[in-house]
Amino acid sequence: MQRSHARSRLKNKSDMDPPLHVHHTQPGRQRSSLAKSKCKPTKKSIILVIIGSLAIALALFFVCYTFFLRNRKVSLRYSVVIDGGSSGTRAHVFGYRIESGNPVFDFRGDESYASMKLSPGLSSYADNPEGASVSVKELVEFAKGRVPEGKLKESDIRLMATAGMRLLELSVQERILEVARRVLRSSGFKFQDESASVISGSDEGIYAWVVANHALGSLGGDPLQTTGIVELGGASTQVTFVSSEHVPSEFSRTITYGNVSYRIYSHSFLNLGQDAAHEKLWESLNNLAANSTEKGIVTDPCTPKGYILDKNSTGEGIVLPGESKFTDSLQAAGNFSKCRSAAFTILQEGKEKCPYKHCSIGSTFTPNLRGSFLATENFFHTSKFFGLREKDWLSEMIIAGESFCGDDWSRLKVKHPTFKDESLLRYCFSSAYIVSMLHDSLGVALDDQRVEFASEAGEKGIPLDWALGAFILNTATATSDSSDPHEKHICGQIHKKHSSVDQMVNQSANRCLQINNLDVLL
Ligand SMILES: *[C@@H]1O[C@H](CO)[C@@H](O)[C@H](O)[C@H]1NC(C)=O
Ligand SMILES: *[C@@H]1O[C@H](CO)[C@@H](O)[C@H](O)[C@H]1NC(C)=O
Ligand SMILES: *[C@@H]1O[C@H](CO)[C@@H](O)[C@H](O)[C@H]1NC(C)=O
Ligand SMILES: *[C@@H]1O[C@H](CO)[C@@H](O)[C@H](O)[C@H]1NC(C)=O
Ligand SMILES: *[C@@H]1O[C@H](CO)[C@@H](O)[C@H](O)[C@H]1NC(C)=O
Repeated sequence: MQRSHARSRLKNKSDMDPPLHVHHTQPGRQRSSLAKSKCKPTKKSIILVIIGSLAIALALFFVCYTFFLRNRKVSLRYSVVIDGGSSGTRAHVFGYRIESGNPVFDFRGDESYASMKLSPGLSSYADNPEGASVSVKELVEFAKGRVPEGKLKESDIRLMATAGMRLLELSVQERILEVARRVLRSSGFKFQDESASVISGSDEGIYAWVVANHALGSLGGDPLQTTGIVELGGASTQVTFVSSEHVPSEFSRTITYGNVSYRIYSHSFLNLGQDAAHEKLWESLNNLAANSTEKGIVTDPCTPKGYILDKNSTGEGIVLPGESKFTDSLQAAGNFSKCRSAAFTILQEGKEKCPYKHCSIGSTFTPNLRGSFLATENFFHTSKFFGLREKDWLSEMIIAGESFCGDDWSRLKVKHPTFKDESLLRYCFSSAYIVSMLHDSLGVALDDQRVEFASEAGEKGIPLDWALGAFILNTATATSDSSDPHEKHICGQIHKKHSSVDQMVNQSANRCLQINNLDVLL
């Protein structure tokens, strides 16, 4: 069964070629002003000489400038990262230059960055893998439109799929990937089969950490001064930071930048993303309602009252008010504190099986959070929705959540007329889940100023998108590949043998990753 092929194009920048500014000097006007001059011939000729040399200098400057611009354009290299997310597939096209052996890129420039997203995600083709080819083809066409034809062959394209695909059976994942590979192989881009893969959640976390610390300029510095990342995605949640505690090896990754080695705690909590957790709650409520003998005995604390629930509905296929046939088995009874408790139950599931010193979420080890953190994705979206200030946003989240969960659905609809029901419905659960995750589970104090919500970082506002981090790591590797034939051999091998970040950045391979030499030109 194929779902509707709704498409959304974001940031579809219309033209990658920078407008060439041609500067015309205006000889006509100069001549006429000279003609009016009443100076003596000698003075006149001196002025003429001065103006003449100025004109020549200007002309030379513009010729050089134009040449430089052209040259810059000509020397751009390109790389494409396709992010196979759970809700859609996004192609990122990066253009970058090499200056004295180092890659220089500009995530904000029209010329060097563009992206496009198509919905639904690859994972929705589980029953019809062949159907995935349509959106991959369209994304490849978009990328081809951004890269000069002569450069396709040397520009690599890779597809990295995340949580949505991770949830599918391996054989199904592989079938969908194979369809995508077929398209990518014949795309004209540089592509190897292993460049289309389902990446692990901790790879995703590491990439996000890389782009954040790159943006903040903290890469190459003291590991304990780096900034951690907590990402609340749809299907999974990632926690990634440098811990000073002992971290069991299964949660520990090492990245080396120049002479600094970062041991990073990174874990992806699969099924504990916002949508997955909400669905889990729906399921358990529906089970309860199905088994209850008395009518109206089960209440949903995460849905504002007045919203009519259906017994069959899940987080995804919510039946609209009026269409429901089972209104009395499950009732919407929004209550923030009860919803927060329900969220906490989901986050603590399996805690009794914790084999470590301590487990903050489920039976998984998480060291005590230390240092600064950026809270991204749904942490950011929900904070923005409620219009929270960056200071004290967690305490503000409680106030906003109490008000939203406790409000009447019809009033909320009037307050937020542009929202679709299923989007608006999310925010009660989201506010409770965020407080329960960060404060109740991970122990972040409500007034902790070190945890900020964000969608971008650094003075230049670099988007905190893991795909940018993947590009940074891959490009750095590829760049040092070409600088020295010996290194090329080493890096090429490592790259081929292992696809995950930790193996790629093994100490002995650190020459492949001179990330600290990277510069962002903005
Ligand atoms: C790394 O190198 C930089 C200069 O290249 C130096 O200032 C710094 O102290 C070095 N760090 C360590 C841990 O050796
Ligand atoms: C409700 O019934 C279903 C099967 O009909 C069962 O799987 C589920 O565990 C029951 N839930 C409760 C809470 O009893
Ligand atoms: C709900 O599910 C039952 C079977 O579980 C089905 O018979 C019924 O038609 C469904 N109702 C709706 C509104 O989809
Ligand atoms: C929400 O539930 C709590 C108990 O869990 C209760 O004390 C509180 O009064 C409820 N709030 C509202 C507005 O009903
Ligand atoms: C890194 O790779 C080298 C050689 O490939 C190997 O001997 C070494 O054990 C690896 N180190 C780590 C930390 O994996």
